[in-house]
This record gives sequence, C-alpha cells and structure tokens, in this order.
Amino acid sequence: MNTVTLANDSMTFPSSGTTTTSSVNKTDVDIHSVVEELKRAKQAVGKPFLDNPKFKTRDVNVYYNQTKQAIFNASLDIGRNEVIAMIGPSGCGKSTYLRCLNRMNDTIPGTKVTGDLLLDGEDIYAKDQDPVLLRARVGMVFQKPNPFPKSIYDNVAYGPRLHGLAVNRSELDDIVEQSLTKAGLFNEVKDRLNSPGTGLSGGQQQRLCIARAIAVSPEVILMDEPTSALDPIATATIEELIDELRSSFTICIVTHSMQQAARISQRTAYFHLGYVVEVNDTNTVFTNPGHRLTENYITGRFG
Ligand SMILES: Nc1ncnc2c1ncn2[C@@H]1O[C@H](COP(=O)(O)OP(=O)(O)O)[C@@H](O)[C@H]1O
Ligand SMILES: [Mg+2]
Repeated sequence: MNTVTLANDSMTFPSSGTTTTSSVNKTDVDIHSVVEELKRAKQAVGKPFLDNPKFKTRDVNVYYNQTKQAIFNASLDIGRNEVIAMIGPSGCGKSTYLRCLNRMNDTIPGTKVTGDLLLDGEDIYAKDQDPVLLRARVGMVFQKPNPFPKSIYDNVAYGPRLHGLAVNRSELDDIVEQSLTKAGLFNEVKDRLNSPGTGLSGGQQQRLCIARAIAVSPEVILMDEPTSALDPIATATIEELIDELRSSFTICIVTHSMQQAARISQRTAYFHLGYVVEVNDTNTVFTNPGHRLTENYITGRFG
C-alpha cells in the first residue's frame, strides 16, 4: 500500500478548498508571484511519495546551458507497475524531468542534473553507472515514431543484439516474436518481418518502437507524448496497449491530453513552470485537485 504523505500544513498557498473563484486568480497571471509561491512550497501537494517505489526522485534540479534552470526541486516517487502521467502546460519541464530518469539529458551538451534519482534504491547518476545499460532498464518511446532504417525484424533485434541477450538465431527469433506480440503488432507484420520498419503506418511504427523498447526487457518505459502524432484509432490501440503493458512494466507517460491521462494512468503529476505542483491518484487530481494551479489547468483556464 502507498504511504500517504499529506501536503505540509505550513504551505503558504491556498488549496482549491479555500479558493472558490470561478475565474483565474489574478495572481496566476502574475508569473513572478506564482514562482515565489511555488518556491516557498517545499513539496508537491497530494501524495508524491510511496512505500517501496520503483523510482525515488528528490530535489531534482536541471539546468540547460549551465545556467537556465528548467526543473526546480522536483521530488516524487514512481510506483511499480503503475502508469504515471505527467501533465501541464507546454514548456513546464515534463520532457526534461522524464529524460532525467534514463539520463537522456546527458546527451544534451551543457545540461546539469542535481539531486537524488534512485531506481530500486540505486543511484542512477553514480559514477559507476553505465548509461547504456541504464537505458536498457529504462527504455524510451518518443513523440514521433522513429524506427531505424532497417527491417522490422532488425529494429526489434537491435537492442538484444547490442546487449548480447540471445545466444543464437532461434533465441533472437523468439525475442523478436514475443516483443512484437506484446506490442500488439505481430499478427499485422509476421509475413513481412524483413520489410523496412519505415514502411508501416504511423500507429504501427509507434508499436514497433514500443516492441523495440520491450525487446531488452526493460523495467520502466518512458513515453513522451507517444500518441500526439497519431490518429484517434491508432491512439486508442496504443492506449489499450499501455494498459496491458502495466502488468509487466512501470510506465511514465508525458501527455498533452488530459483525457488520455485520465483514461490510462493510475497517478498523475502536474508540472507548472518547472515545479511539480501536485501528485496524486489520477482520479483525485481530476475530480478534487488540491492546488488551484492544477484546478485551473484541468478546467481549461490556462495551458
Ligand atoms: N535542449 C534544450 N536546451 C535549452 N533549453 C531547453 C532544452 N530543452 C528544453 N529546454 C527548455 O526547458 C524548459 C522545459 O522544457 P520541456 O522539458 O521540453 O517542457 P515540456 O516537455 O513540459 O513542454 C523550456 O523552457 C524549454 O525551452
Ligand atoms: Mg515535452
């Protein structure tokens, strides 16, 4: 069971319970006062922390170009076998936070990450951590499907080959088939495994990318707006798939769509101006948000 850590009583900002205005509080449009308020809050409203989480992140700060800070003191846990949705206005740091979880920010020159990021209690930024191995444990699926210019088979076999996960061709065949099956794609492509992955439809390509991520048996899959380039039918297929994958993996998904967050996630984190404002059960965030900034966002007042 999750530990319930309630928002600190000494927090200075009012919760939605004390804010009954039906329009945006006038201070919400004054960015400086909102930032001052977010700075004063020591932790997110709701239940950011869990017992025995998969990921424990504390006081995470991220800077671009050495100086521009994009994430401020982010502290939250990510549970096992949960789908956690990261929502919030554009540019508020959702992708930046997500990329901290498998050290993808390392690949952007001038980026600095501070704070504690523990995967099963292990510091993923420790000197002896190999980012390549970490990214096999914490896979990633991007906004735009990005299959390699290789066959469907070779796309899925890429990671297992890189990490030496199969001793012979028949084992590799099994991994490829199982991964495509879990990604809900095998039946559609089994007769053309040697055709280029780039020849598939957008939705199929995204499932191929999910199969490629799954093929190395990751523990966590990060998804950054994975359906925003897809039509509604392909989106529905991916959403069903995410729900099935939850039994085997932890999934962190950034989404622009609040409906999607409400449909597929068990917990939701609301980001605003680089701060984690609120984290709670998805149902609570959408029906009884604890912070007026969350409430303003989910009721469409800004964002
Ligand atoms: N590679 C980068 N270099 C410099 N600034 C960046 C980079 N990526 C993102 N940012 C800045 O960091 C902030 C957060 O961006 P991002 O994490 O992409 O937000 P979101 O995913 O919520 O839209 C924004 O101000 C953005 O301009
Ligand atoms: Mg983003």
